[in-house]
Amino acid sequence: MLEAPRKGSLTPMTRPGTPIEHWKEVVNDMMKAYKHEMESEAHRIFREAAGHKPKAVLPQTVNPDEETVPGIEHPGSTGVIYCSDRAIANGFSYASAHDWANMGQGAPEVGPIPDALPRPQSIPVPEDSLEYAPTTGVKALREAVANLYNVQYRKGKESKYTYENVCIVPGGRAGLSRVAAVISNVYCAYQIPDYTAYDQVLGAFKRLVPIPTVLDQENHYKMDIKQTKKDIRTQGLSVILASNPRNPTGQVIKGQELDELVALSRESTTLILDEFYSWYIYPEEGEEYGQSISSAEYIKDVNEDSVIIINGLTKNWRLPGWRICWVLGPKNLITALSQSGSFLDGGANHPLQLAAIPMLDPERVQIDKIALQKHFKRKRDHVLKRLYKMGLKVAHPPNSTFYIWLNLESLPAPLNNGLTFFEELLKEKTIVIPGIFFDINPAHRRNLVDSPCHHFVRLSFGPPMKDLDMGLDAIHRVLKKARTHGMKPFGHSYKTSLDGEITEEDHDGING
Ligand SMILES: Cc1ncc(COP(=O)(O)O)c(C=O)c1O
Repeated sequence: MLEAPRKGSLTPMTRPGTPIEHWKEVVNDMMKAYKHEMESEAHRIFREAAGHKPKAVLPQTVNPDEETVPGIEHPGSTGVIYCSDRAIANGFSYASAHDWANMGQGAPEVGPIPDALPRPQSIPVPEDSLEYAPTTGVKALREAVANLYNVQYRKGKESKYTYENVCIVPGGRAGLSRVAAVISNVYCAYQIPDYTAYDQVLGAFKRLVPIPTVLDQENHYKMDIKQTKKDIRTQGLSVILASNPRNPTGQVIKGQELDELVALSRESTTLILDEFYSWYIYPEEGEEYGQSISSAEYIKDVNEDSVIIINGLTKNWRLPGWRICWVLGPKNLITALSQSGSFLDGGANHPLQLAAIPMLDPERVQIDKIALQKHFKRKRDHVLKRLYKMGLKVAHPPNSTFYIWLNLESLPAPLNNGLTFFEELLKEKTIVIPGIFFDINPAHRRNLVDSPCHHFVRLSFGPPMKDLDMGLDAIHRVLKKARTHGMKPFGHSYKTSLDGEITEEDHDGING
């Protein structure tokens, strides 16, 4: 929390625990918390982006000013694209990227880290690999994935994965799309907040009906498994989608609770568990490095329990550019995914599938997993410590992923909402992701300030340490400005003109 400025003097550094009540007194009337999004410049700019107009309760009618290509409708950008467009409007470009801190980044640093094994700098392209690969992927890679899961999570269990339980896909989102394309006309539950792309992926496949549930801070953003069990019966939920570990809260369902969750798959409900951050688990005092989490550990019969696991090289192997991922599940799911892959994406890149096989060697994996956990835990602890020193205490520090879900409610308005905090940091050459992108249908909400994610931003500690420090310095500058000048400099003067300056190149490396 920030300390209120004393009249005529610069306040010293903030002290955690200082009451915020003082702030409230010094905030002048016009700067009170926004009651409606239209009072906020940051929110008005958000509404101007294509696909972000509010949609009424009535069926959507296409906005003729926005949709000029007949029959084409913008689905609304995932958070990362909107945030990068706003960064570009504030002077970010591919050439100037090194002057910017990208704490919005949804990808881990890809360079060498201490004790991790080197990754290939070049890959062979044998003639066979110039052919299409099967839509379910190269058999040897499917076998390598099945073997890795059996070694990591199914030791001593009778039912084991085989290649027939694995479908290789060109990235996690392609995997999600393939799965979404084969879900029939059913209720599909998901939680808020969760990974931004679920909104669009679920929305693109009109047959399934998405049913959101809001996760509470008081409950550590945990999914209430008892309630879910009830909902399955009373609401007729057929499919449940969740990331675990969860983006953006950094919380993980494990042990007994994960066991209970997996048990739901034996009650005629299909669980889709997005386990992209399964290695980003940070041991507590006395616990060992090298443990990872997967629902695969709790499945009884790999062909009977309806659990669909999505994972890949993107995060754990720190290879987002390879676009080699997989879906793991009952054999009968894999044959359906082969069919949706044949019209959606045609399969993953053939030479990179071959190059991925040695990366899945269990011994190699264990070395990389430990190196990754040590390195990212150091970064997590560093960022949390600096935030704390600035008076920004994280209620539930992440025990997994590389994200911090930061509640800004303790700051004075308008810095206390994610979209304004984001705009203020852009002025300081730093990118974070406003919380509303992790809400259901953020662009279609009629009043964005009512979103349960309105007061949050997601900070990523995926980038290298020096970039994190640049971003933290920027946050410090914003808070210092607030202490010395009050709230007058905030909430306005945002650059909106893109002046046709955005090039494809400016977007390079921005994804995830
Ligand atoms: C939970 C989760 N699932 C899937 C993905 C996407 O993976 P990919 O980049 O392989 O499409 C991400 C990326 O940010 C993610 O956070």
